[in-house]
Amino acid sequence: MSPALKPVAFLLGTWRGEGQGEYPTIKAFRYREEIRFAHNGKAFLIYSQRTEAIDSDQPMHAETGYLRVVGDDQVEFVIAQPIGFAEISPGRISGTRIDVESSTVGRTPTAKAVTSISRSLWVEGETLHCETRMAMEGVPMVRHLMASFHRID
Ligand code: HEM
Repeated sequence: MSPALKPVAFLLGTWRGEGQGEYPTIKAFRYREEIRFAHNGKAFLIYSQRTEAIDSDQPMHAETGYLRVVGDDQVEFVIAQPIGFAEISPGRISGTRIDVESSTVGRTPTAKAVTSISRSLWVEGETLHCETRMAMEGVPMVRHLMASFHRID
């Protein structure tokens, strides 16, 4: 492992868990999620996640990207989403917690009007927690997702 990854090594592995989604414009829902953080020896983590419906096992959202460590306590998260977003989110590491907020959300021509995304990931004991908030045109930054995970690998 690159020594630069030491501050984010607490994320490495495959995590499985469940979460709930909400937003002022939609009906609340629950989902299952698997997250993987891997590395190939370079100074970034390779990130992927996929979700499925709890009752039907049908695939829901998925995304993939890279988390780069750029200083003792700074990260840059780049994430591509199948619903037409490319998210560039710098942020900060504090112990076993990472908070990032988008400086840019690139949108394909038909993507919904998301203007900003912020994420927090933190490990407490053996549990990884992830919270995702987003703002859209006409909606302030509020929570869309909250999930918790245990390492399976
Ligand atoms: C940062 C990641 C995500 C972004 C930016 C995002 C964005 C959005 C947007 C823009 C909407 C539509 C809101 C509206 O029309 O007013 C939405 C709705 C929804 N999202 Fe997400 N989402 C994300 C992650 C997820 C994940 C992980 C799941 C499932 C586990 C999910 C499930 C849903 C569902 C079920 C709806 C309501 C129905 C629909 O519009 O498809 N989203 N999301």
